[in-house]
Amino acid sequence: MVYSPKPQHDKIIILDFGSQYTELIARRIRELNVFCEIYPYYESLEKIKKINPKGIILSGGPASVRSQKAHLVDPQIFEWHVPILGICYGMQLVTHLLGGTVVAALHREYGKASIRILNTQDLFSNFELDTDYGVWMSHGDRIESLPSGFETLAQSSNSPIAAIRHAAKKIYALQFHPEVVHTFQGKEILSNFVFKICKAKADWTMGFFIEETVNQIQSQVGKDHVVMGVSGGVDSTVCAFLLAKAVGKQFTPIFINNGLLRFEEAQRVQRLFETTSEIQLQVIDASAQFLNALKGVVDPEVKRKTIGRVFIEVFEEVAKKIQNAKYLGQGTLYPDVIESVSVHGGPSATIKSHHNVGGLPENMSLKLIEPLRTLFKDEVRLLGRTLGIAEELISRQPFPGPGLAVRILGEITPERLEIVRKADFIVISEMKRAGYYHRVWQSFAVLIPVKTVGVMGDERTYEHVVALRTVTSEDGMTADWVDLPHDLLSTISNRIINEVRGVNRVVYDISSKPPATIEWE
Ligand code: XMP
Repeated sequence: MVYSPKPQHDKIIILDFGSQYTELIARRIRELNVFCEIYPYYESLEKIKKINPKGIILSGGPASVRSQKAHLVDPQIFEWHVPILGICYGMQLVTHLLGGTVVAALHREYGKASIRILNTQDLFSNFELDTDYGVWMSHGDRIESLPSGFETLAQSSNSPIAAIRHAAKKIYALQFHPEVVHTFQGKEILSNFVFKICKAKADWTMGFFIEETVNQIQSQVGKDHVVMGVSGGVDSTVCAFLLAKAVGKQFTPIFINNGLLRFEEAQRVQRLFETTSEIQLQVIDASAQFLNALKGVVDPEVKRKTIGRVFIEVFEEVAKKIQNAKYLGQGTLYPDVIESVSVHGGPSATIKSHHNVGGLPENMSLKLIEPLRTLFKDEVRLLGRTLGIAEELISRQPFPGPGLAVRILGEITPERLEIVRKADFIVISEMKRAGYYHRVWQSFAVLIPVKTVGVMGDERTYEHVVALRTVTSEDGMTADWVDLPHDLLSTISNRIINEVRGVNRVVYDISSKPPATIEWE
Protein backbone atom coordinates (compact mmCIF):
# COMPACT_ATOMS: atom_id res chain seq x y z
CA MET A 1 0.00 0.00 0.00
CA VAL A 2 1.23 3.44 -0.83
CA TYR A 3 -0.02 6.35 1.19
CA SER A 4 -1.61 8.93 -1.07
CA PRO A 5 -3.09 12.17 0.15
CA LYS A 6 -6.84 12.36 -0.26
CA PRO A 7 -7.96 14.16 -3.41
CA GLN A 8 -9.27 17.08 -1.34
CA HIS A 9 -5.72 18.07 -0.34
CA ASP A 10 -4.46 20.82 -2.60
CA LYS A 11 -1.27 19.85 -4.34
CA ILE A 12 1.61 21.68 -5.95
CA ILE A 13 3.71 19.57 -8.29
CA ILE A 14 7.25 20.07 -9.47
CA LEU A 15 8.39 18.91 -12.88
CA ASP A 16 12.03 17.98 -12.31
CA PHE A 17 14.67 18.90 -14.87
CA GLY A 18 17.50 17.52 -12.74
CA SER A 19 18.45 20.42 -10.48
CA GLN A 20 20.26 19.53 -7.28
CA TYR A 21 17.73 21.78 -5.53
CA THR A 22 14.50 20.11 -6.70
CA GLU A 23 13.92 18.26 -3.42
CA LEU A 24 14.56 21.45 -1.54
CA ILE A 25 11.73 23.20 -3.41
CA ALA A 26 9.35 20.39 -2.42
CA ARG A 27 10.43 20.61 1.20
CA ARG A 28 9.96 24.37 1.27
CA ILE A 29 6.40 24.02 -0.09
CA ARG A 30 5.60 21.31 2.44
CA GLU A 31 6.96 23.57 5.19
CA LEU A 32 4.13 25.88 4.12
CA ASN A 33 1.79 22.97 4.92
CA VAL A 34 0.88 22.38 1.30
CA PHE A 35 1.41 18.91 -0.17
CA CYS A 36 4.02 18.86 -2.91
CA GLU A 37 5.30 16.07 -5.13
CA ILE A 38 8.05 15.74 -7.70
CA TYR A 39 7.52 14.23 -11.15
CA PRO A 40 10.02 13.82 -13.98
CA TYR A 41 9.78 16.59 -16.58
CA TYR A 42 8.57 14.12 -19.20
CA GLU A 43 5.37 13.24 -17.30
CA SER A 44 2.48 13.40 -19.81
CA LEU A 45 0.09 16.32 -19.66
CA GLU A 46 -2.75 13.81 -19.46
CA LYS A 47 -1.36 12.38 -16.23
CA ILE A 48 -0.63 15.84 -14.84
CA LYS A 49 -4.25 16.82 -15.48
CA LYS A 50 -5.40 13.75 -13.55
CA ILE A 51 -3.21 14.75 -10.60
CA ASN A 52 -5.09 18.04 -10.67
CA PRO A 53 -2.47 20.29 -9.09
CA LYS A 54 -3.21 23.82 -7.92
CA GLY A 55 0.13 24.93 -9.35
CA ILE A 56 3.13 23.62 -11.25
CA ILE A 57 6.79 24.45 -10.67
CA LEU A 58 9.33 23.86 -13.42
CA SER A 59 12.62 23.19 -11.66
CA GLY A 60 16.14 24.19 -12.56
CA GLY A 61 18.41 21.80 -14.40
CA PRO A 62 21.87 21.52 -15.89
CA ALA A 63 20.80 21.47 -19.56
CA SER A 64 20.54 24.48 -21.86
CA VAL A 65 17.32 25.15 -23.75
CA ARG A 66 19.56 26.14 -26.66
CA SER A 67 20.98 22.63 -26.90
CA GLN A 68 19.74 19.85 -29.21
CA LYS A 69 19.29 17.71 -26.12
CA ALA A 70 17.20 20.26 -24.19
CA HIS A 71 14.59 18.76 -21.85
CA LEU A 72 11.20 20.06 -22.95
CA VAL A 73 7.58 19.97 -21.80
CA ASP A 74 4.38 19.85 -23.82
CA PRO A 75 3.75 23.58 -24.58
CA GLN A 76 0.02 22.90 -24.11
CA ILE A 77 0.76 23.05 -20.39
CA PHE A 78 0.94 26.86 -20.72
CA GLU A 79 -2.62 26.99 -22.09
CA TRP A 80 -4.12 24.98 -19.24
CA HIS A 81 -4.58 27.93 -16.89
CA VAL A 82 -3.02 26.28 -13.88
CA PRO A 83 -0.42 28.70 -12.44
CA ILE A 84 3.17 27.91 -13.39
CA LEU A 85 6.43 29.03 -11.78
CA GLY A 86 9.65 28.42 -13.71
CA ILE A 87 12.87 28.48 -11.72
CA CYS A 88 16.21 29.04 -13.48
CA TYR A 89 16.17 26.44 -16.31
CA GLY A 90 12.38 26.52 -15.84
CA MET A 91 12.43 30.24 -16.65
CA GLN A 92 14.52 29.73 -19.77
CA LEU A 93 12.15 26.97 -20.87
CA VAL A 94 9.08 29.18 -20.44
CA THR A 95 10.80 31.90 -22.48
CA HIS A 96 12.04 29.53 -25.16
CA LEU A 97 8.76 27.66 -25.65
CA LEU A 98 6.62 30.81 -25.69
CA GLY A 99 8.67 32.69 -28.29
CA GLY A 100 11.25 34.74 -26.35
CA THR A 101 15.01 34.43 -26.79
CA VAL A 102 17.53 32.78 -24.52
CA VAL A 103 21.22 33.38 -25.14
CA ALA A 104 24.47 32.34 -23.49
CA ALA A 105 25.39 34.84 -20.77
CA LEU A 106 28.72 36.59 -21.17
CA HIS A 107 29.49 35.82 -17.54
CA ARG A 108 28.19 32.69 -15.91
CA GLU A 109 26.39 33.92 -12.81
CA TYR A 110 26.97 31.64 -9.87
CA GLY A 111 26.48 32.48 -6.22
CA LYS A 112 25.20 35.50 -4.38
CA ALA A 113 23.68 38.36 -6.33
CA SER A 114 21.04 40.98 -5.66
CA ILE A 115 17.80 41.79 -7.41
CA ARG A 116 15.78 44.98 -7.54
CA ILE A 117 11.99 44.60 -7.32
CA LEU A 118 10.03 46.44 -10.00
CA ASN A 119 6.52 45.17 -9.27
CA THR A 120 5.02 44.16 -5.93
CA GLN A 121 1.61 42.98 -7.07
CA ASP A 122 1.57 39.24 -6.43
CA LEU A 123 4.79 37.20 -6.55
CA PHE A 124 6.64 39.96 -4.70
CA SER A 125 3.85 41.28 -2.54
CA ASN A 126 5.22 42.21 0.94
CA PHE A 127 8.46 43.24 -0.79
CA GLU A 128 9.55 46.88 -1.10
CA LEU A 129 9.50 48.47 -4.51
CA ASP A 130 12.89 49.54 -5.96
CA THR A 131 14.68 47.79 -3.12
CA ASP A 132 17.55 45.30 -3.45
CA TYR A 133 17.29 41.76 -2.07
CA GLY A 134 20.01 39.10 -1.85
CA VAL A 135 19.40 36.03 -4.01
CA TRP A 136 21.23 32.87 -5.12
CA MET A 137 21.93 32.60 -8.85
CA SER A 138 23.29 29.66 -10.79
CA HIS A 139 22.97 29.96 -14.53
CA GLY A 140 24.91 30.15 -17.77
CA ASP A 141 22.07 31.29 -20.05
CA ARG A 142 20.06 34.49 -19.82
CA ILE A 143 16.85 35.88 -21.26
CA GLU A 144 17.42 38.40 -24.02
CA SER A 145 13.86 39.09 -25.08
CA LEU A 146 10.56 38.23 -23.44
CA PRO A 147 7.75 36.26 -25.07
CA SER A 148 4.70 38.40 -25.86
CA GLY A 149 2.41 39.21 -22.96
CA PHE A 150 5.24 38.96 -20.38
CA GLU A 151 6.60 41.75 -18.19
CA THR A 152 9.69 42.05 -16.00
CA LEU A 153 9.12 41.93 -12.23
CA ALA A 154 12.73 42.18 -11.05
CA GLN A 155 16.21 42.78 -12.42
CA SER A 156 19.77 42.19 -11.32
CA SER A 157 22.95 43.87 -12.48
CA ASN A 158 23.87 40.82 -14.56
CA SER A 159 20.34 39.82 -15.61
CA PRO A 160 18.16 42.76 -16.61
CA ILE A 161 15.38 40.18 -16.62
CA ALA A 162 15.54 38.31 -13.28
CA ALA A 163 11.81 37.65 -12.73
CA ILE A 164 8.87 37.73 -15.15
CA ARG A 165 5.15 37.07 -15.38
CA HIS A 166 2.29 36.73 -17.81
CA ALA A 167 -0.45 38.03 -15.53
CA ALA A 168 -3.44 36.74 -17.53
CA LYS A 169 -2.04 33.23 -17.99
CA LYS A 170 -0.60 33.15 -14.46
CA ILE A 171 2.83 32.11 -15.70
CA TYR A 172 5.74 33.30 -13.53
CA ALA A 173 9.45 32.68 -13.69
CA LEU A 174 12.59 33.45 -11.68
CA GLN A 175 16.20 33.48 -12.78
CA PHE A 176 17.36 32.76 -9.21
CA HIS A 177 16.63 30.01 -6.68
CA PRO A 178 14.03 31.00 -4.05
CA GLU A 179 14.37 27.59 -2.34
CA VAL A 180 17.93 28.02 -1.04
CA VAL A 181 18.63 29.81 2.22
CA HIS A 182 20.95 32.32 0.55
CA THR A 183 17.92 33.87 -1.16
CA PHE A 184 16.54 36.18 1.51
CA GLN A 185 12.78 35.92 1.76
CA GLY A 186 12.85 33.11 -0.82
CA LYS A 187 10.22 31.33 1.22
CA GLU A 188 8.05 34.43 1.02
CA ILE A 189 8.21 34.28 -2.79
CA LEU A 190 7.20 30.60 -2.80
CA SER A 191 4.48 31.38 -0.28
CA ASN A 192 3.12 34.16 -2.52
CA PHE A 193 3.08 31.77 -5.47
CA VAL A 194 1.39 28.97 -3.52
CA PHE A 195 -1.20 31.02 -1.64
CA LYS A 196 -1.74 34.28 -3.52
CA ILE A 197 -1.42 32.94 -7.06
CA CYS A 198 -2.36 29.22 -6.84
CA LYS A 199 -4.80 29.81 -3.95
CA ALA A 200 -3.79 26.51 -2.35
CA LYS A 201 -5.05 25.53 1.11
CA ALA A 202 -2.49 24.97 3.87
CA ASP A 203 -3.83 21.63 5.07
CA TRP A 204 -0.79 19.34 4.99
CA THR A 205 0.15 18.78 8.64
CA MET A 206 1.59 15.85 10.59
CA GLY A 207 -1.70 15.50 12.48
CA PHE A 208 -3.55 15.05 9.20
CA PHE A 209 -0.90 12.73 7.85
CA ILE A 210 -1.17 10.45 10.87
CA GLU A 211 -4.97 10.40 10.85
CA GLU A 212 -5.24 9.63 7.14
CA THR A 213 -2.41 7.09 7.06
CA VAL A 214 -3.78 5.24 10.06
CA ASN A 215 -7.20 5.03 8.34
CA GLN A 216 -5.67 3.82 5.11
CA ILE A 217 -3.56 1.16 6.83
CA GLN A 218 -6.57 -0.07 8.82
CA SER A 219 -8.81 -0.45 5.81
CA GLN A 220 -6.06 -2.16 3.83
CA VAL A 221 -4.98 -4.62 6.51
CA GLY A 222 -8.44 -5.57 7.79
CA LYS A 223 -8.09 -8.62 10.02
CA ASP A 224 -4.70 -9.69 8.68
CA HIS A 225 -1.29 -9.29 10.28
CA VAL A 226 1.70 -7.06 9.47
CA VAL A 227 5.34 -7.99 10.11
CA MET A 228 8.37 -5.80 9.76
CA GLY A 229 12.13 -5.87 10.31
CA VAL A 230 13.27 -3.03 12.56
CA SER A 231 16.88 -1.93 12.94
CA GLY A 232 16.77 0.70 15.68
CA GLY A 233 17.30 3.41 13.05
CA VAL A 234 14.94 6.36 12.69
CA ASP A 235 13.01 5.24 9.60
CA SER A 236 12.13 1.71 10.66
CA THR A 237 11.29 2.79 14.22
CA VAL A 238 8.95 5.58 13.12
CA CYS A 239 7.34 3.24 10.58
CA ALA A 240 6.84 0.60 13.29
CA PHE A 241 5.22 3.09 15.68
CA LEU A 242 2.86 4.23 12.94
CA LEU A 243 1.88 0.67 12.03
CA ALA A 244 1.37 -0.15 15.70
CA LYS A 245 -0.87 2.89 16.09
CA ALA A 246 -2.92 1.71 13.12
CA VAL A 247 -3.31 -2.01 13.78
CA GLY A 248 -2.04 -2.58 17.34
CA LYS A 249 -1.67 -6.26 18.14
CA GLN A 250 -2.00 -7.23 14.48
CA PHE A 251 1.53 -5.93 14.04
CA THR A 252 4.80 -7.66 14.93
CA PRO A 253 8.11 -5.84 14.55
CA ILE A 254 11.10 -8.16 14.39
CA PHE A 255 14.57 -7.11 15.50
CA ILE A 256 17.31 -9.41 14.27
CA ASN A 257 20.57 -9.23 16.16
CA ASN A 258 23.12 -10.03 13.46
CA GLY A 259 26.07 -9.90 15.84
CA LEU A 260 27.36 -6.85 13.96
CA LEU A 261 25.69 -4.28 16.18
CA ARG A 262 27.06 -1.56 18.41
CA PHE A 263 27.63 -2.02 22.13
CA GLU A 264 24.36 -3.01 23.88
CA GLU A 265 22.33 -2.00 20.82
CA ALA A 266 19.83 -4.87 21.01
CA GLN A 267 19.01 -4.05 24.64
CA ARG A 268 18.69 -0.34 23.82
CA VAL A 269 16.18 -0.95 21.02
CA GLN A 270 14.19 -3.36 23.15
CA ARG A 271 14.06 -0.83 25.99
CA LEU A 272 12.89 1.88 23.62
CA PHE A 273 9.97 -0.21 22.41
CA GLU A 274 9.07 -1.38 25.90
CA THR A 275 9.12 2.02 27.53
CA THR A 276 7.43 4.11 24.84
CA SER A 277 4.83 1.77 23.42
CA GLU A 278 2.71 -1.30 23.86
CA ILE A 279 4.46 -2.86 20.88
CA GLN A 280 5.75 -6.37 21.45
CA LEU A 281 9.14 -6.43 19.78
CA GLN A 282 10.39 -9.88 18.79
CA VAL A 283 14.13 -9.96 19.34
CA ILE A 284 15.92 -12.75 17.53
CA ASP A 285 19.56 -13.42 18.34
CA ALA A 286 21.01 -14.77 15.10
CA SER A 287 24.60 -13.64 15.75
CA ALA A 288 26.04 -17.14 15.48
CA GLN A 289 24.34 -17.75 12.13
CA PHE A 290 25.69 -14.49 10.67
CA LEU A 291 29.22 -14.92 12.04
CA ASN A 292 29.37 -18.50 10.77
CA ALA A 293 28.34 -17.43 7.31
CA LEU A 294 30.92 -14.63 7.35
CA LYS A 295 33.81 -16.88 8.35
CA GLY A 296 36.73 -16.40 5.97
CA VAL A 297 34.91 -13.73 3.90
CA VAL A 298 37.16 -10.79 3.07
CA ASP A 299 35.64 -9.18 -0.04
CA PRO A 300 33.32 -6.30 0.98
CA GLU A 301 30.66 -7.06 -1.64
CA VAL A 302 30.59 -10.74 -0.67
CA LYS A 303 30.24 -9.64 2.97
CA ARG A 304 27.25 -7.46 2.11
CA LYS A 305 25.61 -10.20 0.06
CA THR A 306 26.19 -12.79 2.77
CA ILE A 307 24.65 -10.53 5.41
CA GLY A 308 21.67 -9.83 3.14
CA ARG A 309 21.12 -13.52 2.40
CA VAL A 310 21.27 -14.63 6.05
CA PHE A 311 18.97 -11.76 7.04
CA ILE A 312 16.35 -12.98 4.58
CA GLU A 313 16.67 -16.58 5.75
CA VAL A 314 16.26 -15.61 9.41
CA PHE A 315 13.44 -13.16 8.74
CA GLU A 316 11.45 -15.60 6.59
CA GLU A 317 11.82 -18.27 9.23
CA VAL A 318 10.40 -15.98 11.92
CA ALA A 319 7.66 -14.46 9.72
CA LYS A 320 6.45 -17.94 8.69
CA LYS A 321 5.50 -18.63 12.29
CA ILE A 322 3.33 -15.55 12.64
CA GLN A 323 -0.30 -16.34 11.95
CA ASN A 324 -2.11 -14.50 9.15
CA ALA A 325 1.02 -12.51 8.30
CA LYS A 326 0.10 -11.04 4.95
CA TYR A 327 1.81 -7.65 4.93
CA LEU A 328 5.40 -6.51 5.25
CA GLY A 329 6.07 -3.01 6.59
CA GLN A 330 9.05 -1.07 5.22
CA GLY A 331 10.39 2.36 6.11
CA THR A 332 11.06 3.47 2.53
CA LEU A 333 11.29 7.27 2.22
CA TYR A 334 10.35 9.68 -0.57
CA PRO A 335 13.90 10.34 -1.83
CA ASP A 336 14.20 6.59 -2.51
CA VAL A 337 11.15 6.57 -4.76
CA ILE A 338 11.43 9.83 -6.68
CA GLU A 339 11.98 8.87 -10.27
CA SER A 340 15.28 10.68 -10.85
CA VAL A 341 15.79 12.15 -14.28
CA SER A 342 18.95 10.85 -15.90
CA VAL A 343 20.89 14.05 -15.25
CA HIS A 344 20.86 13.19 -11.54
CA GLY A 345 23.55 10.71 -12.50
CA GLY A 346 25.06 7.74 -10.74
CA PRO A 347 25.72 8.64 -7.10
CA SER A 348 22.08 8.68 -6.05
CA ALA A 349 21.50 5.34 -7.70
CA THR A 350 24.44 3.80 -5.84
CA ILE A 351 23.37 5.22 -2.49
CA LYS A 352 19.87 3.88 -2.93
CA SER A 353 20.92 0.32 -3.56
CA HIS A 354 22.37 -0.05 -0.11
CA HIS A 355 19.65 1.87 1.63
CA ASN A 356 17.10 -0.71 0.68
CA VAL A 357 15.99 -1.24 4.26
CA GLY A 358 15.81 -4.89 5.23
CA GLY A 359 16.93 -6.00 1.77
CA LEU A 360 13.97 -8.36 1.64
CA PRO A 361 13.24 -10.38 -1.49
CA GLU A 362 10.56 -9.30 -3.93
CA ASN A 363 9.23 -12.82 -4.26
CA MET A 364 8.16 -13.06 -0.63
CA SER A 365 4.48 -13.79 -0.48
CA LEU A 366 3.96 -10.74 1.75
CA LYS A 367 2.53 -7.51 0.35
CA LEU A 368 4.46 -4.33 1.02
CA ILE A 369 3.15 -1.52 3.22
CA GLU A 370 5.32 1.59 3.00
CA PRO A 371 3.56 4.35 4.94
CA LEU A 372 6.55 6.76 4.87
CA ARG A 373 6.88 6.65 1.09
CA THR A 374 5.78 10.25 0.64
CA LEU A 375 7.94 11.75 3.40
CA PHE A 376 11.33 13.41 3.50
CA LYS A 377 13.75 12.55 6.30
CA ASP A 378 13.04 15.71 8.30
CA GLU A 379 9.30 14.99 8.04
CA VAL A 380 9.93 11.46 9.35
CA ARG A 381 11.74 12.98 12.33
CA LEU A 382 8.82 15.32 12.93
CA LEU A 383 6.41 12.40 12.63
CA GLY A 384 8.50 10.43 15.13
CA ARG A 385 8.37 13.28 17.63
CA THR A 386 4.62 13.64 17.09
CA LEU A 387 4.25 9.91 17.80
CA GLY A 388 6.18 10.36 21.08
CA ILE A 389 9.41 8.58 20.15
CA ALA A 390 12.39 9.57 22.33
CA GLU A 391 14.55 12.39 20.97
CA GLU A 392 17.65 10.29 21.61
CA LEU A 393 16.54 7.97 18.84
CA ILE A 394 15.16 10.59 16.49
CA SER A 395 18.38 12.55 16.30
CA ARG A 396 20.73 9.60 16.18
CA GLN A 397 23.60 9.44 13.69
CA PRO A 398 22.94 7.06 10.76
CA PHE A 399 24.25 3.51 11.09
CA PRO A 400 24.67 1.22 8.08
CA GLY A 401 22.45 -1.84 7.66
CA PRO A 402 25.39 -4.31 7.48
CA GLY A 403 26.57 -2.81 10.77
CA LEU A 404 30.13 -3.03 12.02
CA ALA A 405 30.93 -5.40 9.14
CA VAL A 406 31.60 -2.38 6.90
CA ARG A 407 33.99 -1.03 9.53
CA ILE A 408 36.17 -4.12 9.77
CA LEU A 409 38.50 -4.45 6.84
CA GLY A 410 39.37 -8.06 6.19
CA GLU A 411 37.80 -11.03 7.93
CA ILE A 412 35.11 -10.56 10.56
CA THR A 413 35.92 -12.46 13.72
CA PRO A 414 34.49 -12.14 17.25
CA GLU A 415 37.81 -10.63 18.42
CA ARG A 416 37.87 -8.00 15.69
CA LEU A 417 34.21 -7.17 16.31
CA GLU A 418 35.02 -6.65 19.96
CA ILE A 419 37.79 -4.18 19.07
CA VAL A 420 35.56 -2.10 16.78
CA ARG A 421 32.61 -2.25 19.17
CA LYS A 422 34.66 -0.97 22.10
CA ALA A 423 36.38 1.71 20.01
CA ASP A 424 32.99 2.80 18.59
CA PHE A 425 31.57 3.11 22.09
CA ILE A 426 34.47 5.33 23.14
CA VAL A 427 34.13 7.51 20.03
CA ILE A 428 30.38 8.01 20.51
CA SER A 429 30.70 8.67 24.26
CA GLU A 430 33.45 11.25 23.82
CA MET A 431 31.70 12.95 20.90
CA LYS A 432 28.60 13.29 23.08
CA ARG A 433 30.58 14.47 26.07
CA ALA A 434 32.28 17.17 23.99
CA GLY A 435 28.98 18.28 22.45
CA TYR A 436 30.05 17.24 18.93
CA TYR A 437 27.83 14.18 18.40
CA HIS A 438 24.86 16.13 17.01
CA ARG A 439 27.03 18.59 15.10
CA VAL A 440 28.37 15.99 12.68
CA TRP A 441 26.76 13.48 10.33
CA GLN A 442 28.69 10.46 11.58
CA SER A 443 31.61 9.61 13.83
CA PHE A 444 33.04 6.12 14.11
CA ALA A 445 36.05 3.82 14.36
CA VAL A 446 37.37 1.51 11.63
CA LEU A 447 39.65 -1.48 12.14
CA ILE A 448 42.48 -1.56 9.62
CA PRO A 449 43.92 -5.02 9.02
CA VAL A 450 47.54 -4.08 9.55
CA LYS A 451 49.68 -4.37 12.65
CA THR A 452 52.31 -1.83 13.60
CA VAL A 453 55.02 -1.72 16.20
CA GLY A 454 54.49 0.20 19.42
CA VAL A 455 55.75 0.32 22.95
CA MET A 456 53.65 -0.04 26.08
CA GLY A 457 55.45 0.13 29.41
CA ASP A 458 58.75 -1.51 28.66
CA GLU A 459 57.27 -3.91 26.18
CA ARG A 460 57.45 -3.82 22.44
CA THR A 461 53.94 -4.33 20.99
CA TYR A 462 52.78 -5.41 17.56
CA GLU A 463 49.07 -4.52 17.36
CA HIS A 464 46.23 -3.22 15.21
CA VAL A 465 45.60 0.27 13.86
CA VAL A 466 42.21 1.95 14.35
CA ALA A 467 41.15 4.78 12.07
CA LEU A 468 38.85 7.48 13.38
CA ARG A 469 36.39 8.97 10.89
CA THR A 470 34.18 12.02 11.52
CA VAL A 471 32.28 13.66 8.69
CA THR A 472 29.73 16.35 8.06
CA SER A 473 27.19 15.78 5.31
CA GLU A 474 23.73 16.86 4.18
CA ASP A 475 22.51 13.51 2.92
CA GLY A 476 25.43 11.09 2.81
CA MET A 477 26.01 11.70 -0.91
CA THR A 478 28.95 14.03 -0.34
CA ALA A 479 30.85 14.54 2.89
CA ASP A 480 33.68 16.47 4.44
CA TRP A 481 36.02 15.43 7.24
CA VAL A 482 35.67 17.42 10.44
CA ASP A 483 38.48 19.43 11.99
CA LEU A 484 37.78 18.23 15.55
CA PRO A 485 39.51 20.02 18.45
CA HIS A 486 42.89 18.42 19.08
CA ASP A 487 42.18 17.77 22.75
CA LEU A 488 39.07 15.76 21.76
CA LEU A 489 41.08 13.75 19.22
CA SER A 490 43.71 13.19 21.83
CA THR A 491 41.19 11.98 24.46
CA ILE A 492 39.60 9.56 21.98
CA SER A 493 42.98 8.24 20.85
CA ASN A 494 44.28 7.80 24.42
CA ARG A 495 41.14 6.04 25.55
CA ILE A 496 41.10 3.65 22.58
CA ILE A 497 44.78 2.74 22.99
CA ASN A 498 44.48 2.32 26.76
CA GLU A 499 41.10 0.60 26.94
CA VAL A 500 40.84 -1.49 23.79
CA ARG A 501 43.04 -4.52 23.88
CA GLY A 502 44.82 -5.20 20.61
CA VAL A 503 45.17 -1.59 19.44
CA ASN A 504 48.37 0.45 19.75
CA ARG A 505 47.81 3.18 17.17
CA VAL A 506 44.96 5.54 16.16
CA VAL A 507 44.98 7.57 12.94
CA TYR A 508 42.54 10.24 11.76
CA ASP A 509 40.92 10.04 8.31
CA ILE A 510 41.10 13.41 6.53
CA SER A 511 39.49 12.42 3.21
CA SER A 512 36.32 13.93 1.84
CA LYS A 513 33.65 12.17 -0.25
CA PRO A 514 34.22 12.17 -3.17
CA PRO A 515 36.77 10.82 -3.90
CA ALA A 516 36.66 8.64 -0.73
CA THR A 517 33.41 7.21 0.65
CA ILE A 518 32.18 7.64 4.22
CA GLU A 519 32.51 4.00 5.22
CA TRP A 520 35.80 2.23 4.53
CA GLU A 521 34.32 -1.26 3.90
P1 XMP B 1 29.23 5.63 1.80
O1 XMP B 1 30.18 4.73 2.51
O2 XMP B 1 28.64 5.02 0.57
O3 XMP B 1 28.02 5.87 2.81
O4 XMP B 1 29.82 6.97 1.52
C1 XMP B 1 27.02 6.85 2.67
C2 XMP B 1 26.09 6.77 3.85
O5 XMP B 1 25.34 5.56 3.78
C3 XMP B 1 25.55 4.77 4.93
N1 XMP B 1 25.59 3.37 4.49
C4 XMP B 1 24.55 2.54 4.60
N2 XMP B 1 23.32 2.69 5.13
N3 XMP B 1 22.80 0.45 4.61
C5 XMP B 1 22.46 1.64 5.15
O6 XMP B 1 21.35 1.76 5.66
C6 XMP B 1 24.01 0.22 4.06
O7 XMP B 1 24.29 -0.86 3.56
C7 XMP B 1 24.93 1.32 4.06
N4 XMP B 1 26.20 1.46 3.60
C8 XMP B 1 26.59 2.73 3.88
C9 XMP B 1 26.87 5.24 5.52
O8 XMP B 1 26.96 4.97 6.91
C10 XMP B 1 26.81 6.72 5.20
O9 XMP B 1 26.01 7.43 6.13
